[in-house]
Formats: sequence, structure tokens, C-alpha cells
Amino acid sequence: MCGIVGYTGNRTAAALLLEGLKKLEYRGYDSAGLALQQEGRLIIAKKAGSVADLESILEPGLDQNTVGIGHTRWATHGKPTDINAHPHCSCGDEIALVHNGIIENHQELKEWLATDQGHRFISETDTEVLAHLIEEFYEGDLLMAMRKAMKRVIGSYTVLALSSREPGRLVCTRQSSPLIIGLGENENLVASDITALLEHTRNTKILEDGEFAAITADTIEIIDADGKAIEREVFEVTWDLEAAEKGGFDHFMLKEIMEQPDAVRETMRQRIDHSSYKIQLEDLGFSAGELQAIEKFYIIACGTAYHAGLVGKNVIESLTGIPVEVDVASEFRYREPLLKKNQMVIVISQSGETADTLAALRLARQSDLKVLAITNVVGSSVSREADHVFYTWAGPEIAVASTKAYLTQLVALYLFALYLGQIRNSTKPAITEQIVEGLIALPGQLKAILAADSINRLKQYCRHLAGWDSAFFIGRNLDYPVAMEGALKLKEISYIHAEAYAAGELKHGPLALIIEGIPVIALATQKAVLDKTLSNIQEVNARGGAVFAITQEGFKDVVRQVDAVFYLPPVIDLLAPVLSAVPTQLIAYYAAVERGHSVDKPRNLAKSVTVE
Ligand code: G6P
Repeated sequence: MCGIVGYTGNRTAAALLLEGLKKLEYRGYDSAGLALQQEGRLIIAKKAGSVADLESILEPGLDQNTVGIGHTRWATHGKPTDINAHPHCSCGDEIALVHNGIIENHQELKEWLATDQGHRFISETDTEVLAHLIEEFYEGDLLMAMRKAMKRVIGSYTVLALSSREPGRLVCTRQSSPLIIGLGENENLVASDITALLEHTRNTKILEDGEFAAITADTIEIIDADGKAIEREVFEVTWDLEAAEKGGFDHFMLKEIMEQPDAVRETMRQRIDHSSYKIQLEDLGFSAGELQAIEKFYIIACGTAYHAGLVGKNVIESLTGIPVEVDVASEFRYREPLLKKNQMVIVISQSGETADTLAALRLARQSDLKVLAITNVVGSSVSREADHVFYTWAGPEIAVASTKAYLTQLVALYLFALYLGQIRNSTKPAITEQIVEGLIALPGQLKAILAADSINRLKQYCRHLAGWDSAFFIGRNLDYPVAMEGALKLKEISYIHAEAYAAGELKHGPLALIIEGIPVIALATQKAVLDKTLSNIQEVNARGGAVFAITQEGFKDVVRQVDAVFYLPPVIDLLAPVLSAVPTQLIAYYAAVERGHSVDKPRNLAKSVTVE
């Protein structure tokens, strides 16, 4: 999620690192920093804000230094402040490092390092633990020390470090997080993202999970976790800068759709104890007493986040028995809601900056209600003003149409509902186990859904859809909010007028609009209401509508009644929205591409809506 750059050679490191960090900034980051080697010591400069803010605090005369590391931070642990910005240093400032990812066992390591080994910590980050841990093993060889230290670390990471005692040498490793070494003439570079390297070289060596590398201006030594040397072929990058920013995809939206398995996995990381099926959300900061006393929830959000809230209502009510009202923030504010003691407000906002959502949050707090924020941006206005925050760790989302942030909002709501059920003893252990097993399976299932052959089948229907100016999405029960989100996505980026209807409501009006060939996307994933949904699909069929069904493997009757079908892997009704949202995103995406629209920046819309 963060950006990493490193340089060793004979050019001015600071200028090259800043340039590299700027290349990564297109994703939107919250702080930046550098560490440079200078005559036996390290110079550290870091700052909350943009790379330009970092540049403005750099002392003159740094142009003699030719070795350094740099970082742009997207906060996960600790607010975006100067102190929490990377690099982080060992006690004696001998070692500095930058990190991308999450260290799951950082609390435990920190306790050991601070209490037993006497290390002093100054930031709120999980990253700082790594600097002190490597220092514990450091005897003059940073590669060796990092290899020993990382054996104790659980999590996902890219780490790039340097030591004041090893001039010209950078050391790095990775686990479930990218790292690329760029090969130059009498210089070498390292980056978490190819975009930061392209201006200097197209020749790269890609580090694999669990490998370590030591890099100087003329040498690259790669080893595995046991210290065995590894020969790595040179990989020549052929993408241009724009394609590289998009990870080789045509649009950010498609890249972000494809990132969903990882985003969902990250959001669950550290929050589920697989062995006991316990949800670990103590970090949220609510006491058991507070959660037990809740008599009603309001979920408040805008746009896509509102649709996540509609799914959340169903999930919280069914797992806890607590009633939930869901409101669009701009309506909640002005409808004089009957706010009372023992009610809690959940606001959902990807950006954490949406003006109406923020105003609704303030209204709730003025009425003395506790507010939980579900957001993707650490340090955002919503996160600062809420009582407690559940961060979705989806990483930066650039396309205006929200995809991966939405799926992680759903996951956050499932986890919160399960946690409530656990605290209030309202969910049967067998149900909890079934849902937890289902959640753990989601990343793998999402990967299967995103496989090329299933997408190809869907593209054909999108060509038909793109020729129409109107379409319908129908579904019952939990399929209904997914239909609403699908219709919103299609409207936003393809400019096709799309309406979502509770399938049972078709006959009360919209059926009059069903004509030969009109696209109708039918969500039929809910076993509990499958027969009812099938009857509604028949109503459409009888009038000639072209039905594309999204259903589950094994729901055989569906295929007989529709023009095209997209099968999801088997999933329990409650979790189906996480999977079924994905084909609707792809439908919107390919319809928009077919119509030649600007997918990532649709007309009249903005990513973050800070006006009322
Ligand atoms: C805008 C965006 C949507 C988003 C909505 C709410 O309309 O285009 O993608 O769902 O705002 O944004 P938030 O950041 O609060 O989730």
C-alpha cells in the first residue's frame, strides 16, 4: 500500500528518490520520508503531507550523498504524522528502514523488545518494531541481521533498509508485497512499484516471497531464508509509464477489481483467530458493556458505501437481533431522526471526507451517541471525529467508481456483526463457525471469479448491454442491495440508465418497461428465496427481456430460464453479496469500455465529495 524507493550509485540520491516518490504519489499518500548515508551516519528527513512537503524541509547540501531509501506512507497503524512517517530507526540511529505492509505480531515483538531488551520506541507504527528487531541481530552485516530478524515476523511486508556502517549497501526482503530491483550502469535501484524505476531502467530482477537481497552500485546478491544464493534472470519491462501505473491493466478500475482478493484478505488479517473462530476487534476500543447496551444501530453513508450499509443491516440484524436503520447521509441529517440513548451510529465512508457523512456523524455526536466509522483512510476527517474506527485495509482506490473499498466495507460489517454476536452471545457457535469458514474462503473464491475464462463469458453479454440505453437489476433479500450497487456502477461509468428493483416489485410497475431484448441482470444467489426469484425471472422472460443471471454453482434451474449465466462458487446466503458484487462490477466496466467512456473518471462525478 505504501511506496518504496531505494538508490545506490554515484548520482545524487535525494533528487532521485524524491523523483521516484513523486511517481508513486499518483495513488495518493499521506506522508513521505528519506534516509541517506552520509560519512558514517544516516540523515533522516520525514514529513506528514506530500512529497513536495518533504522536499521543502530538506537541508541544502544533501547532493553529495549517493545512497538512500525513500517512502510514501499510506497509514495503517498510527495517524499520518511526522513521527509515524518512515523511515524508522534503531535506537542508535545506525539502521533505518522503510516498510510496506502489516506486521501482524508487532505488539508481541514490541513488548519483548521494549521490556526485555530495553529498546525505546517513539512512533505508533508496526514498522518501528522491525528497525529494533533487526538491531537486535546486527553485528555489521545487515543482510544477515534482516534474515534472522524476519524469521520472527508474521505478516505481509516489503522492507528496505540501510546501515550507517555499510556504505553503499541496501538490503531488502519481501513477503506478499511487491519489490523490484532495477539494474543500471554503475548504479542500482529498488522500488515497490515499477513506475518509480522506468525512467532509469527497464532491466529488472524481481524478488520473490521470502527472499532477501543486498544491493550495491555494482552487485546484487539474492538469497533465500536459509541463506542459499539464488540466481535470478533479468526481466525486461516493456510497459510505458501510464500502463505501469495501472499495473498493466487498461484502467485503474479493472486493476482495483483484480486487487479485491488481496484487499479482502488484508481487511480480515489479524481480526480472525482461525483456531477458535473468535473475532478479534478489541482494538476498536468499545467496551463489552457498551456493546451489550446497544438497542439500535443507524448506518449512515452515501453512494456505494450506503449499499454496503444495506447489506450490513441484514447481517447485523440476523446475527445479533439488534434493529438497524440505514440512511443516506444527506437524508438522515434533515429528517430529524429519533436519536435516543443506547443507540449507536455506524458511518461508512471510503474516503472519510464525504461532507454529508461527516455532517451526519457530527449530528449523532451532538446527540451524545457513540459513533463507529468504517473507512479506508487513516487520519481522514471521519476517522478523527468518530469515537472509534474500523479501518478497511483496501489500499488507495483511484477509480471514481468504488470496487475494492466496497468489498472491504462488507467484510468490515460481517466482522463487526460477528464480534457483536460474540460479545452479546446472540450468535450460535455453529453459525459463527460456518460464517468464519466462509469468510476465510472468500479471497480464493474471488480469485476464481476473476479468472480469465469466466470474464470472457461475461464480456459477450456486455456487448449486448452496451447497445441499450436502459437496463434493470433485480434481486430479493441480500441480492437486492447488490442489485442496487450493480445499477449504480452501470449508471456511473457506462451512462446506461439502470434501475434496481426488488424482484417481487417488478409486477408493480417496471414490468411495463420490459420489452424484447431489454437487458435484465437477475441476482439469484439467495437459496432461501431462489424459487421466488425464478418466478420473477420468468415474468421477465415471458416479455422477451434478455436475462443475465448471477447465481451459485449447483442452482441448476436458473440456467434453463435465462440468456446467459454467471456462476459463483458455492457460498452461504449471508456472504453471497461479497462474491455477487464482482460480476456486476465487471458488467459495468466492460459495458463502459464497449461504449468508449472514460472509465476511471466518469463525467460529472468525483471520487471524494466534500460539498453538501
Ligand atoms: C462519491 C463516489 C462514490 C462513493 C461516494 C461516497 O459519490 O464517487 O464512489 O461511494 O462518493 O464516498 P465515500 O468516500 O464516503 O465512501
